[in-house]
Amino acid sequence: MTLQDRHGRVLRDLRISVTDRCNFRCGYCMPADQFGPGHEFLPKGELLTFEEIHRVAGLAVAAGVTKLRLTGGEPLLRHGIENLVGLLASLPGKPDLALTTNGILLAHQAERLALAGLNRVTVSLDAIDPEIFGRMNGTGADVSRVLSGIEVAKVFGLPVKVNAVIQRGVNETQVLPLVRWARESGVTMRFIEFMDVGETNGWDRRSVVPAAEMVEMIVEEFPLEVYPGRGGATALRYRHTDGRGEIGIIASVTRPFCGDCSRLRLSPEGKLFTCLFAGSGHDLKGLLRGGADDSTIAAALGGIWGNRDDRYSELRDDRSEPVHKAEMSYLGG
Ligand code: GTP
Ligand code: 5AD
Ligand code: SF4
Ligand code: SF4
Repeated sequence: MTLQDRHGRVLRDLRISVTDRCNFRCGYCMPADQFGPGHEFLPKGELLTFEEIHRVAGLAVAAGVTKLRLTGGEPLLRHGIENLVGLLASLPGKPDLALTTNGILLAHQAERLALAGLNRVTVSLDAIDPEIFGRMNGTGADVSRVLSGIEVAKVFGLPVKVNAVIQRGVNETQVLPLVRWARESGVTMRFIEFMDVGETNGWDRRSVVPAAEMVEMIVEEFPLEVYPGRGGATALRYRHTDGRGEIGIIASVTRPFCGDCSRLRLSPEGKLFTCLFAGSGHDLKGLLRGGADDSTIAAALGGIWGNRDDRYSELRDDRSEPVHKAEMSYLGG
């Protein structure tokens, strides 16, 4: 079975945010001055339990979802996350099961996650330079801990992708050092254009380093070939002509990819969001905790996807009024 939205886009991916908390304060996501000590996070009792998440994910898989991604906030802060991985890994059809993390706790948890059935990890790493990394994560956390998290994940057989958000005047000097490091380390490096997600990161188009400029920087040192076609993927893909690895560029600002966007997002307290830039979601927790049977929840899921009309990034330049948007730390990357 598959579900189609109003533009004929098929539901394939479910991105599950398991917490709105994070131990970093990246300026493009949770600026420290906006997410200070007094910030109120969701109360524990409001978060979906692992059993509730497992139930929603199972219904999504039955409706055609083939990819599940755990995200946050920082998903490794959710106590016992490997138990959720175990539940999701045993779903019928064995969906591709990935997790996005800032990597700071990964060295401790990689083995448990791999044993529980996680297929792969995506680690955020915006700089190799310790000083730039410490400044960008807003806490001074040490880049070497993230690098060892990546190494440990590889040891336990988890393929690793690395995401770097590039901001002008902040870390564009890190593009080439990251590419050099990724080639040595055998990880897939992906660069992300700074996006206007949420309402707190002070986004300004002038801070965006366009994909084309990033490619120009890289080809100065490393010749690249384009992989044709993009499918439903977020990233434009390139490979090194010497065969040593590939690079992705996620160009949501200059090359939007709403046309075949197959992604649905589940928030920590059980709301379904049909776009990363949506202001509000559709509550499922009421149904889950109100005793609804599976067919009622599956029908709600089908109705929400069937009604979907979102294509925020494609319409970005046509919009004159600001729109309300959920925070990425809540909704997940
Ligand atoms: P793979 O399955 O490993 O290719 O992952 P992915 O393509 O789903 O990408 P990933 O989860 O690593 O996301 C990379 C980044 O792309 C995220 O952190 C977001 O910044 C951005 N992103 C992911 N999905 C969307 C989307 O639907 N819309 C927009 N605008 N950006 C997205
Ligand atoms: N622009 C682009 N990417 C972002 N992320 C978080 N905030 C932004 C933003 N404003 C990405 C980070 C992280 C993932 C969870 O979301 O790269 O890898
Ligand atoms: Fe935390 Fe990831 Fe947001 Fe950085 S981008 S503050 S690591 S959730
Ligand atoms: Fe999908 Fe919305 Fe991102 Fe477009 S902006 S690709 S519709 S999540």
